[in-house]
Amino acid sequence: MKLWGGRFSKSTAKLVDQFNASIYFDKKLYKYDILGSIAHAKMLGKCNIISQEESFQIIDSLKEILEEIESGIIEFKIEYEDIHMNIEKVLTDKIGSLGKKLHTARSRNDQVAVDIRLYLKEEIADICGLIKNLLVTLLNLSTENIDTIMPGYTHLQRAQPITLGYHLMAYFQMFKRDYLRLMDCLDRMDFLPLGAGALAGTNYDTDREFIANQLGFTGICHNSLDAVSDRDFIIEFLSASSIIMMHLSRFCEELIIWSSSEFSFVEMDDSFSTGSSIMPQKKNPDVAELIRGKTGRVYGNLFNILTIMKSLPLAYNKDMQEDKPLLFDTVDNLKPCLIIFSDMISTMKVNKSNMKSAIKSGFMNATDVADYLVKKGLPFRSAHEVVGKMVLYCIQNNINIEDLSIEDFKSFSPSFQDDIKEKVEIESCIESKVSQGSTSTQNVSIMIEKGKKFIETL
Ligand code: ARG
Repeated sequence: MKLWGGRFSKSTAKLVDQFNASIYFDKKLYKYDILGSIAHAKMLGKCNIISQEESFQIIDSLKEILEEIESGIIEFKIEYEDIHMNIEKVLTDKIGSLGKKLHTARSRNDQVAVDIRLYLKEEIADICGLIKNLLVTLLNLSTENIDTIMPGYTHLQRAQPITLGYHLMAYFQMFKRDYLRLMDCLDRMDFLPLGAGALAGTNYDTDREFIANQLGFTGICHNSLDAVSDRDFIIEFLSASSIIMMHLSRFCEELIIWSSSEFSFVEMDDSFSTGSSIMPQKKNPDVAELIRGKTGRVYGNLFNILTIMKSLPLAYNKDMQEDKPLLFDTVDNLKPCLIIFSDMISTMKVNKSNMKSAIKSGFMNATDVADYLVKKGLPFRSAHEVVGKMVLYCIQNNINIEDLSIEDFKSFSPSFQDDIKEKVEIESCIESKVSQGSTSTQNVSIMIEKGKKFIETL
């Protein structure tokens, strides 16, 4: 008979058993379910809801079950529906009717909620560790490439010269925010739902603070109806994960473009590339493409849970069982993406000379020439117009701004003086970016130093 079978006169259809069961996926929560139950049993003993002796016996048996699951002895069964009832069944098989006392003052609704929170708290800590590794990789790469000159783009059109170190430090800021976002999400979800009962609280004088303490939560969820209905913490986590994947995906997109023959800015290591089954010459950036692709999958999971939750009346509805596959899928995809991405960029080869030659065309020093004129007293708009005309002249004559002679410069504006020739050199364009947070070596060094300090706080 089912653990809840008392009021039924017929057993459930086989198909319904299969359809209703979540053991296929929620078995992943066995450890958290047992930890939650141990804390609950301790509290029941402490509050004299069961005897101390009974509490000890239940706890010992639960610890035994944990070991048995880990050694693969226990076989979960669809007929017991989910991880909670499977474990309870094993417990009752072991210690008889005493096992049936464990479910006093709780329901599966608060039980599943605490299991997911415990699982996610651990996973977030793990993911933050992976982001930290990625941040360190970015700091190292930026330091190595602090003077690697490359074109900066807007509209994917060459815009202004920057350095690769600067470009990488832009991603450092994004992943730093991602780290903080996850920490924030962790803080908000760090409250215990267990003890909420099905929805209304329970008829027992329990000590939920005690359980919170045992399980390492900051406090308890203050409203029991909210405690069992809330899945915000999953949505927040999926939303933070989507943002991380979006950042990884943008970066991957750039690496894919940069590895094309048209760009040849970088080359992925052979160990992070794949070949073609038909074209012998091919070396494909599959890893970066897969991360980009998996981003869609994580976004899908976010929309999945948002849609599941949007019309659910309070409190628990079985729809909520569907939260787990998409949560697990997100964690199981996000973690390898973070690891492999960090390894991929730390092994890629940077073609510094190709990056630098790409600066030659595209008039990337045009803004610097306009700024030169502003320093000589022209209003910016007039300077913009003068340089626009110079660019047109260069296009018509198929030359670059730096190819113009001093006389040429002066013919466009009398404000040009001999020093313009050195000011249009690319290195000088980069080093003259003196505003805080700019691409000059000095400013990027400051960013790297701040980045290192941030890492030390983690
Ligand atoms: N397997 C269920 C889930 O994952 C556990 C909660 C069941 N609660 C209930 N009232 N049927 O959501």
